[in-house]
Amino acid sequence: MADPIIRVQGVTFAYSPESVDAILALQDINLDIYPGDYVVIVGHNGSGKSTLAKHLNALLQPTTGDVWVEQNNTRDPAQTLAIRSTVGMVFQVPDNQIVATVVEEDVAFGPENLGFPREEIRERVDRALEVVGLTEERLRPPHLLSAGQKQRVAIAGVIAMRPKVLVLDEATAYLDPLGREQVLGAVRRLNQDGITVVSITHFMHEAVAGNRVLVMEKSRIVMDGSPRKIFAQAERLRELQLDVPQPTDLANRLHGRLEAFPGDLLSVAEAVDTITEFALRGNARE
Ligand SMILES: Nc1ncnc2c1ncn2[C@@H]1O[C@H](COP(=O)(O)OP(=O)(O)OP(=O)(O)O)[C@@H](O)[C@H]1O
Ligand SMILES: [Mg+2]
Repeated sequence: MADPIIRVQGVTFAYSPESVDAILALQDINLDIYPGDYVVIVGHNGSGKSTLAKHLNALLQPTTGDVWVEQNNTRDPAQTLAIRSTVGMVFQVPDNQIVATVVEEDVAFGPENLGFPREEIRERVDRALEVVGLTEERLRPPHLLSAGQKQRVAIAGVIAMRPKVLVLDEATAYLDPLGREQVLGAVRRLNQDGITVVSITHFMHEAVAGNRVLVMEKSRIVMDGSPRKIFAQAERLRELQLDVPQPTDLANRLHGRLEAFPGDLLSVAEAVDTITEFALRGNARE
């Protein structure tokens, strides 16, 4: 197996560690993320998801333990720039991330700051807009775009920096279903192109897009596995006050009534196929 692109080793993190009301937001976190992974992090409010995400690009440093991005330790200030160009972050509210009055200028902002030649900036901006599906909006003012389009502008701005890892902290939280679908589609394409994705979400059906799901609870990682393995444990997830995706819930209930029906389906398409297959088998028997 390739070396991990991010390695979190024995990390504990406390907000205001010296004060009497120190908050232990991360405890005993060990995590290797490999190139090309699509890792989804879910967990109840306040479980530590955002705190963990901020450790991945040196916005926060561990109280104890280490975070390595490739060969760079996030504790070393001399490596911060290298780490931030490897790991790009996208947050909840796109408005706070947009700086320019024209879409393509906004996307060019990062590469311009790094002082790339004009040609290279042009190339990066065009490619980034293409990947997020906003080429036609490139000359529009961002404030006239929908929330989903704005969030894709923010993603394009990060992508134009050519990071190897994209961390999204509830990037679809304030979007309508169409906007969410558009952002997810763009993220999926980026992952297919080889970018490593770490995505935090409260929407369980989004977790199905990943190859690995981490469940956080009270500052720890309490579950870690493929979406199929994680969502098959509906009871455990409910104890952690988390849902399972709707098709999985349906499959679970059918499995309760009909043992032969698989309880670990993930998508509507899978549920439709399996139900159809069962119905046909039933008919054949009559
Ligand atoms: N800047 C801060 N100062 C002090 N405590 C904080 C700060 N940010 C977060 N916390 C606390 O740390 C713990 C973990 O918070 P964090 O934001 O990482 O959780 P989260 O899983 O991202 O939650 P949410 O789903 O609400 O976004 C919580 O108890 C929270 O109140
Ligand atoms: Mg959060």
